[in-house]
Amino acid sequence: MRKILLLACFLPTLLLKAQNPLSIPDTLSGNSITLTIRDSVRTWYPGFPTNTIGINAAYLGPTLLLNKGDSILFSVQNQLMDSTTLHWHGLHIPPEDDGGPHTPILPLSSWNPAFTVMDAAGTYWYHPHLHMRTAEHVTKGAAGLIIIRDSTEAQLNLPRRYAVDDFPLVIQSRAFDGSRQFIVETAADSVILVNGTLDPLLQVPAQVVRLRLLNGSTDRVYNLGLQNNQVFYQIGSDGGLLNQPVPMSRLRLAPGERAEILVNLSGMQGQQVYLVSYGSELPDGIYGALNPSSMGMGSIPGYSANLLNGSDFNIVLLDVTNSTTNPVTSIPATLVSVTPYSSTSANLTFPVTIAPQVMGPNGMLNGPFELNGSLFDMNVINHTTSLGYTEIWTIQNNTAIAHPFHVHGLQFYIFERNGLPPPANEAGRKDVVLVYAQETVKIIMRFEDFVNDSVPYMYHCHMLTHEEDGMMGQYIVSGPSSAPEYPLAYGPAVYPNPSSGLFTIALPDMVNGQAHFHIQDVLGKPVYKGTIALKGGEGVLHLAGLPEGAYFLTISHPAGSSATKIFITR
Ligand code: C2O
Ligand code: CU
Ligand code: CU
Repeated sequence: MRKILLLACFLPTLLLKAQNPLSIPDTLSGNSITLTIRDSVRTWYPGFPTNTIGINAAYLGPTLLLNKGDSILFSVQNQLMDSTTLHWHGLHIPPEDDGGPHTPILPLSSWNPAFTVMDAAGTYWYHPHLHMRTAEHVTKGAAGLIIIRDSTEAQLNLPRRYAVDDFPLVIQSRAFDGSRQFIVETAADSVILVNGTLDPLLQVPAQVVRLRLLNGSTDRVYNLGLQNNQVFYQIGSDGGLLNQPVPMSRLRLAPGERAEILVNLSGMQGQQVYLVSYGSELPDGIYGALNPSSMGMGSIPGYSANLLNGSDFNIVLLDVTNSTTNPVTSIPATLVSVTPYSSTSANLTFPVTIAPQVMGPNGMLNGPFELNGSLFDMNVINHTTSLGYTEIWTIQNNTAIAHPFHVHGLQFYIFERNGLPPPANEAGRKDVVLVYAQETVKIIMRFEDFVNDSVPYMYHCHMLTHEEDGMMGQYIVSGPSSAPEYPLAYGPAVYPNPSSGLFTIALPDMVNGQAHFHIQDVLGKPVYKGTIALKGGEGVLHLAGLPEGAYFLTISHPAGSSATKIFITR
């Protein structure tokens, strides 16, 4: 085992060298959010500026602070000379707003998705998703965090003051070439950036702090722990809080995954503790272990020369300072109530087999990897389900390396790993599951709200090199509510009207499903569009982000559309 880098933890002279204050992304909130993706430059190595792609910044985008129930209108401006997309990873939103490969934003144009936040409080993220460009755009810096808040989380005694006792940590491994430009899709990813900072130091108060961890790396899996083996508590998985804090000393985090942890630093002012990735403890068959192949054969070009592999290395130095006013000083006993779907409610089982396209040790390790015998094809729908269905997906990994399997559009639950229930820290809402070499994982999910017969959702490996090589499939949710039948003469009821921005829409013939709406100002200029989720024929339209005035609201459905004049007054 190589432990060279961990040595730095014990050598105070090395410790003092080159610690940079951790940069903290700005925040954006409200009902109307503008994100501008553009080419930029940032200098990590003096004298060698690195070309980046930033979102409202030179590297990484702002943290979006959203509340469950909010309706948000986005303006995503693509200032690149290349097409891109913007995907809201983990959010339960309609496929046409999901920002997958089917919704490209052309160079110098914009995209205006609008959706209502339906997910539980948690840590989500956004990143480009154009097929064959995802790795490049994300590697160069186009990604950001989404923090969702809700009333359940608000009642818990948890740290939630952004950058005071609640800190975002976007962990990424990167490779720079001789002129310090990013190398995309390489096994030479030997540099760790946290929120874009090299060798970061984060000042944290001497109390319970919350770390929101995102593995935003292309391929690398981390095995996180505190330098002194201090216990920490995982409180959240990909899509929200767990039932109760889970005490842990190691946390494995695969590309795309998030975890929220609490660290109790009470009484530790003046001390410094590294958050470390204990790569030496990763078993074979994981990108990041000494041997990435579970079979002991084959190699990834450049992998063994990368000193991070199989080594323990530092992520961020926590420098404990004085506590704040009103500190959280204890770990709550319980959090929320998360109940996985029951397997007896499943309508069907969908097998997903992962196998190399080319047999042999190198194919088993490097791919390209096929899902159910084929590589990604934009024109092929690989799976169709029905609105309201509950499905068990059986993911069988017949390769020599672990794959972080991700499903768009919803949160699932891990039902079984090789026939056994998942560990407590994986028992909550998930949208990425690391499926180990030769393992079979069953996940259970429900397709609850959005139907679209033409725009699919994706499922794929979140190792971006694998995804770009075609380890991706797409599914459609079909259902009766995609074709609501009601007479055109029978327009929707919209009330109260005027309103300060919250309108109830009632479509009596449409029990559950969705309706699309768009809003024009009185001159006919489009100002807003989106989807309303309908339950029992009713949905709520949040227009608090629009200025006062009169508008035309058009509710669309395949049988036609109806326009209503609405008034927003404050
Ligand atoms: Cu984080 Cu399909 O993506
Ligand atoms: Cu996603
Ligand atoms: Cu993979």
